[in-house]
Amino acid sequence: MESSILKIEKDLKENLSEYRYQHSINVMKEAESLARHYHADILKCKLCALTHDLAKEFNDDKNKEIIKKNNLSENLLKKENRNIIHGYIAAIIVKEKYGFSEDMIRAIKYHSTGYTEMDLLAKIIYLADKIETGKDYPGIEEERLLAYQDIDKAIVICLCNQIKQIVKKNKKVNTLAYDTLGSLIK
Ligand SMILES: [Fe+2]
Repeated sequence: MESSILKIEKDLKENLSEYRYQHSINVMKEAESLARHYHADILKCKLCALTHDLAKEFNDDKNKEIIKKNNLSENLLKKENRNIIHGYIAAIIVKEKYGFSEDMIRAIKYHSTGYTEMDLLAKIIYLADKIETGKDYPGIEEERLLAYQDIDKAIVICLCNQIKQIVKKNKKVNTLAYDTLGSLIK
């Protein structure tokens, strides 16, 4: 299976900007380290982390085409869904092209917002994307620390920071993010 990682890395290198490729590699490394820490499936974590952003640089026409072909909701094309559509599109591609399993597809599909009752794989992908070594934003040090102490609490803090930034920019917060938050606060 390590060979599939090498193959996917090659695909990504050909189709992503250098910035996005490096981010994907960084997320894979962070996901691997979280997977070791929490005894999750390391290969699944690495594969999901590597591919989570594979559709992030698709243009509107390509997104439209994939949405139509797969009968997804056209609502995904709305401005307020700009930050989540790439997860939905990537979920389709990893299923078709790489044959990923349902839990992997779900982790990739919802990696921007999380979802209610996330499994460990989804939690690791969500967090690794936010705290990988290339990222720097207010609050990240606390998130990095918490990620290895209390994964649920780390996601809660991460979501709160994310929501704060979106609100500051006067943009709409996707309701899935609130639902995720509600499901993790006990
Ligand atoms: Fe990402």
